[in-house]
Amino acid sequence: MFTDSAPATPRHVAFIMDGNGRWARQRRLPRAAGHVKGAAQVRTVIEHCAQRGVQAVTLYAFSTENWARPANEVGALMALFARYLQNEIADMQRNGVQLRVIGDRSVFSESLQQAISQAEAATAGANRLVLQLAVNYGGRAELLGAMQRWLQANPGAEPAALTEAALAQYLFSPDLPAPDLLVRTAGERRLSNFLLWQTAYTELYFTDTLWPDFDAKALDAALAWFAGRVRRFGKTTEQVLNAAA
Ligand code: FPP
Repeated sequence: MFTDSAPATPRHVAFIMDGNGRWARQRRLPRAAGHVKGAAQVRTVIEHCAQRGVQAVTLYAFSTENWARPANEVGALMALFARYLQNEIADMQRNGVQLRVIGDRSVFSESLQQAISQAEAATAGANRLVLQLAVNYGGRAELLGAMQRWLQANPGAEPAALTEAALAQYLFSPDLPAPDLLVRTAGERRLSNFLLWQTAYTELYFTDTLWPDFDAKALDAALAWFAGRVRRFGKTTEQVLNAAA
């Protein structure tokens, strides 16, 4: 379903949605209130991405390390996912949004796992925008799982048979183009175990704006920044500019 878009428009944008807690603290609200506002902002950002011609969005909603948070915050986040799936599916179907969940879902409650499967099945035919939610996701765990599944599928294979292309087939969503742009909100400048393989050539955009404040205007600023980047993929700037001329 992915078409070549103008190089100025990223086909796939990944977001590290950071700053919900700080947004809540600034307002003397519980941290969970920041996540609720953050979840509402997801809708704005997805709609705006679709309008701008972005074809895939991956959101880092819960990392394999987030289990270390206080139990009530983990519970609030899980409840928020469940509610999000319940409330947004009809709109996703209407707007051509195909939902995928990446990460290890096997540890979630039966009902959450079921809600995820139902949402994925209900939107499987949509082809305007793929929305990937990374939940209980870790980049290292994804790579390790891919290697384990490759070994299972190729018992006794020569190590050299494990090529980059072969391994990529065992990652989540091998059909998706790698993110062209990664946005991290709230001032930190790190990947935090997100899409470690797929971000090898991704343009990284950092903003101090907190995720609950990240609106259409903030997204346009990120897209405008991306449009001004010269992506070299290991070549020289001259080579890239000559090829484009
Ligand atoms: C990081 O902010 C954010 C998270 C760990 C959770 C992200 C979840 C959402 C935006 C809402 C749920 C999403 C969906 C799709 C339903 P933080 O809590 O680390 O903020 P802080 O660094 O300011 O404390």
